[in-house]
Amino acid sequence: MKAYVLKEAGGIQNLQLTELPIPNPRRDEVLIKVKAISINPVDFKTRAGFALYDSLKDIDPLILGWDISGKVISAGSEVTTFKIGDEVFGMINFPGHGAGYAEYVVAPADHLALKPAGITHAEAAAATLAALTAWQALTVHTKAKSGSQVLIHAASGGVGHYAVQIASHLGAEVTGTSSGANRKLIKELGATFHIDYQQQQFEKLSTKYDIILDALGGDHFLRSLEAVKKNGTVINLIPDPQAAHETYPDSQSTLGIAAEKGINAVYFPVTSSGKDMEAIARLLENGILRSHISKTFDFEELPQAHAYMEPGRTVGKVVVLLNG
Ligand SMILES: NC(=O)c1ccc[n+]([C@@H]2O[C@H](COP(=O)([O-])OP(=O)(O)OC[C@H]3O[C@@H](n4cnc5c(N)ncnc54)[C@H](OP(=O)(O)O)[C@@H]3O)[C@@H](O)[C@H]2O)c1
Repeated sequence: MKAYVLKEAGGIQNLQLTELPIPNPRRDEVLIKVKAISINPVDFKTRAGFALYDSLKDIDPLILGWDISGKVISAGSEVTTFKIGDEVFGMINFPGHGAGYAEYVVAPADHLALKPAGITHAEAAAATLAALTAWQALTVHTKAKSGSQVLIHAASGGVGHYAVQIASHLGAEVTGTSSGANRKLIKELGATFHIDYQQQQFEKLSTKYDIILDALGGDHFLRSLEAVKKNGTVINLIPDPQAAHETYPDSQSTLGIAAEKGINAVYFPVTSSGKDMEAIARLLENGILRSHISKTFDFEELPQAHAYMEPGRTVGKVVVLLNG
């Protein structure tokens, strides 16, 4: 099979298309013929030597990629939930070795859900790491509910565009931030209000929020502490101790700063979960959640998908499609 191997951290040229044996599933795993892969910022950060690189760098061959959708080709002896021919999707082994940039992938059965029949493999692959992050943020690490006022930063991005839809579905009144170019999309996804960060500073406005989902980190996290209600929650997806330290030199961490101010602050890494994938599958099936895919690439062009996403302007999701 063909797979992209990362021999060492670096630019997109370090993603080397290589011929490897098809892997064998262990007892609790299935072997999947991959139809679509979605790309996330953690992919290009890890490729460049940041994010998960240190924890993965001794794996040989190291294959990046966690988000896949495809068809079950074979199953380990203990797998009872899926059978050969089932179409499945999920975020595999995150934050471990996903090995998703390949024509065939082995995945623990309990990291997967059945792909709803009316959803394409591209739409399903998109709704994995980013959708799980939004879901776990708003239903596990805090609970958005009817009447909650929720601010979603980077609401037009991968995580943000699912978070707007999920928070709206849970009954919250949602405000999303982005540049003006993405205002229309964010409102269409269900946000009541939009803040153009190029025109307004969200923390200077009068509205205070019960929940803020911060996918930008650093200074945005610190500014979010000014925009949250007392006893509200700021969920920080990328803690930046350096930015925190520069602003509040006596504090140890971003979370410490929040605690000093009496604000609930949460940092969490998204984790693989078949149960949460099933919840996302139901939302996709019922048309409550949709994947906005702004760009697709062929498997042979996968490194270009990294280059496309690195400037941080992605709208919704970027997906890589496999033929055959
Ligand atoms: N902790 C975790 O487990 C976890 C999980 C998932 C993601 N993350 C992290 O969360 C971050 C976001 O991930 P993602 O997949 O959503 O990224 P993404 O898709 O690349 O986000 C791009 C979006 O961010 C918007 N944006 C950029 N600067 C902004 C600003 N100053 N204010 C408001 N919006 C802005 C852009 O809109 P405009 O072009 O209109 O500016 C664009 O639509 C990444 O750093 C990722 O690594 C962490």
